[in-house]
Amino acid sequence: MEPVEHFPVMLDQVLEYLRVRPDGLYADVTAGLGGHTQAIAQRLTTGRVIATDRDAESLELARQRLKPWTDRVVFLQARFSELEATYQRLGICGRLAGLLADLGPSRYQLTCPERGFSFMFDGPLDMRMDRSGGPTAADLINKLSERQLAEILWRFGEERRAKRLARAIVRARPLLTTRQLAELVESVVPGTTGRLHPATRTFLALRLVVNEELAELEALLNALPRWMAPGGRVVIITFHSLEDRLVKRAFRALAASGKASLLTRKVVRPSQEEVRTNPASRSAKLRAIEFR
Ligand SMILES: C[S@@+](CC[C@H](N)C(=O)[O-])C[C@H]1O[C@@H](n2cnc3c(N)ncnc32)[C@H](O)[C@@H]1O
Repeated sequence: MEPVEHFPVMLDQVLEYLRVRPDGLYADVTAGLGGHTQAIAQRLTTGRVIATDRDAESLELARQRLKPWTDRVVFLQARFSELEATYQRLGICGRLAGLLADLGPSRYQLTCPERGFSFMFDGPLDMRMDRSGGPTAADLINKLSERQLAEILWRFGEERRAKRLARAIVRARPLLTTRQLAELVESVVPGTTGRLHPATRTFLALRLVVNEELAELEALLNALPRWMAPGGRVVIITFHSLEDRLVKRAFRALAASGKASLLTRKVVRPSQEEVRTNPASRSAKLRAIEFR
C-alpha cells in the first residue's frame, strides 16, 4: 500500500480542545491514516495514545506513518461497539485524559476504487470500512425490497426522489459497480442540486447503512462516561447532520446531568483558509466536552 497524502481535518482546533498532556492516556478511535494520532503522539512523553480503527488497511497505513513514535502508540483494530471490551482488557476504563473521533470514511477509503465508496472511481459496490465481513452495498442494492431501499435513501440520504430511485434500482438489478449505480442515479435524479453530484446522497445513505454508522456512534457516546477520567476531554468531528445531531444531544445530556461541561457551546467549523486548501473539510463540525 502506497502512503496517501493526507491533511488531518481541523487539526489546530482538535489540539486546542484536547489540550494534550505529555503524561496523559489518549484514545484516537478513528486512527484512519494516523494524521491526528501523529499530532497527539508528538506531544507525549510518558503518555500513550491507543489508536483504533475498524479498517485493517487504514491501520496499516497509520502504522507506517507513525513508525518514529511507535513507543507511544498502541494500534488495535476495533469498531466503536467493540471498544468497551478492548478498554476493559487493557484496564483503561475511567483513565482516559482525552478521546478523539473524526467520523466518516478516510481519504484512503474514498479514493481507493476497490473499496467502492465513491462514484468518482469505478469499482465494486463494497463500501465496508471493515472488509472482513458483513453485507456490502451491492448486497443491499440487489437484495432489499423497493420499500426498504426507498426508506434508506429517504432517511439517511434525504433523497427527495427516494421512491422513484428505489423503483429504478429494482428494475435495473443486478447493479454491481459504482459506475452502474452512479449512472442509474443520474438518469433518475437531475443534477440540479447545487454543487452536489446527483449520486452523492445515494452513496452517503448506503455507506451509513452498510457500516451501521449511527448505531456505532451511539455506542461510542453512551460509553464515554465509563471511559473518561475526571477532567478528560472528548472531541468529535462529524460530516453529516444526522451524526452531528446525535453528538449535540449526547453532549447536552451529559452537561445537563452534571457529568461533563460543554467546551463548545456552538458547533466549531473549519476556517475559510482550511476549506480553501482542503475542500474535504468543508462540512466538518467539531464539538467538545470535558468530564467532571
Ligand atoms: C475520517 S477518517 C479518520 C482520519 C484520521 N483522523 C487521520 O487524521 O488520518 C475516519 C476513520 O474512522 C474509521 N471509522 C469510522 N467509523 C468507525 C467505527 N464505528 N469504528 C471504528 N472505526 C471507524 C474509518 O475506518 C476511517 O478510517
